[in-house]
Amino acid sequence: MPIKNVIISNHPFVADSLTHLRDKDTSLTAFRRHSDKICYLLFAEAIRGLKFNQVKIETPLVPLLSPKLADEVVVIPVLRSGIAMLFGAMQLLPKSKIGFVGLQRDEKTAVASEYYWKLPKIEKNSVVIVTDPMLATGGSILHVLKAIAKKKPKEIRIVCVVSAPEGIKRIRKEFPKLKIFTASLDSHLNDQKYIVPGLGDYGDRYFGT
Ligand code: URA
Repeated sequence: MPIKNVIISNHPFVADSLTHLRDKDTSLTAFRRHSDKICYLLFAEAIRGLKFNQVKIETPLVPLLSPKLADEVVVIPVLRSGIAMLFGAMQLLPKSKIGFVGLQRDEKTAVASEYYWKLPKIEKNSVVIVTDPMLATGGSILHVLKAIAKKKPKEIRIVCVVSAPEGIKRIRKEFPKLKIFTASLDSHLNDQKYIVPGLGDYGDRYFGT
């Protein structure tokens, strides 16, 4: 059953690339290629509904009013694996500003602390896209969302490759209207908080760690 504001891409290229990403025998180069491709396609979905202005241009034949993206987009990858999503995203949104956030969780208290935090100015006309390939427990993204929401941007969206119901539920509880763009809503988290069936550790597989 569809979940409100969770947009699962049905593009055939997304499905194809996800199969390559999930396969444990996919090589490093193929993983990178399919990651860049799937992120490009997911970001293409994620700009739907943003503001476009009609601008005056001239085709070789006639003057024409034609749409041009007007919203200022800020992309915030969650370190480390969020960086992998930038390559696809930047091809589509070359003018967007980019912020970086790095969080680590205290194993005992489960409290997330920021070890890196560098954001561009977020203004009331900014659309902020927070991106992390694996939406697992949702803890890190939630921390980022709460901090960004205080700056009152026009809108916040999430782009992730694979998501778990546990993480979606947690985010939707606090941000019910926020749109989440993903390639797949998987089954569940295992005891180690990996997404099942998932694809393993995205950062390790993308960066060849
Ligand atoms: N992060 C990953 O890279 N993979 C998971 O399955 C969960 C979190």
